[in-house]
Amino acid sequence: MLSSAPGPIGVFDSGYGGLTILKEIRERLPEYDYIYLGDNARNPYGTRSFDVVYEFTRQAVHALFERGCRLVILACNTASAKALRSIQQKDLPVWDDSRRVLGVIIPTVEALGSISKNGNIGVLGTPGTISSGTYDIEIAKFFPQFRTVSVACPMWVPLVENKEYDSPGADYFVEKYVEQLFAEEPDIDTIILGCTHYPLLIDKIRSRVGDRASIITQGELVAASLADYLRRHPEMDQKCTRGGTCTYLTTENPDKFAELAQSFMQTSLTASHITL
Ligand code: DGL
Repeated sequence: MLSSAPGPIGVFDSGYGGLTILKEIRERLPEYDYIYLGDNARNPYGTRSFDVVYEFTRQAVHALFERGCRLVILACNTASAKALRSIQQKDLPVWDDSRRVLGVIIPTVEALGSISKNGNIGVLGTPGTISSGTYDIEIAKFFPQFRTVSVACPMWVPLVENKEYDSPGADYFVEKYVEQLFAEEPDIDTIILGCTHYPLLIDKIRSRVGDRASIITQGELVAASLADYLRRHPEMDQKCTRGGTCTYLTTENPDKFAELAQSFMQTSLTASHITL
């Protein structure tokens, strides 16, 4: 039985990537309580099938609901592409219709209108996000005149999860996928980093892209969209507690998680283990 008391806002990712979203959300909305859940033991999600990503995400969202969350942000593009709709349509009506789960793709797509000048959009994401076609579909809905070109970057998440994002090996894979994108459409003026792990590679991506295109990361956009959501939904806002705390949960070793998470969040933190 899920509690009907107010609770923290849940933030979920397959691993460390969602921390890039959590950081911006906490900067924008510091007064709320948060629970971050990283499914590091089963990462990456990006190479897994639709059914598996849906099942893993569903388990994580339910675990966050059991810990009192009334609102959960899927800070993961792969989960947003492959699981969000099914959870909203199939699971929430059964679990508790007053709870909400939001993703990161729509807030990102909405921002394109004010950024792209020529409508040629490049999307870099996990194989799962790219093969789902979610960005192509959503961009076509919001901006039918835009053209979208996508490239899957299967090596980028493992580089981040294994703390290799600053290594010379990372340069090779950054060059490979960025150049693949420009080879498909040299006129791209805006690139979406459609995976929450990729901001950890931002310096290398920026220097490879140069002044050929603007690069969109998602943290600020998702934080602004959440602030707007809470303003437009006072009934949900009242269900989110305000204590300024953040609890970290991982399906992997909590000390290992805390060590890397600390360097992402630039603050000391402790984590606890969770079994899904
Ligand atoms: N951070 C996740 C995303 O935004 C994906 C990572 C993974 O492949 O598990 O897509």
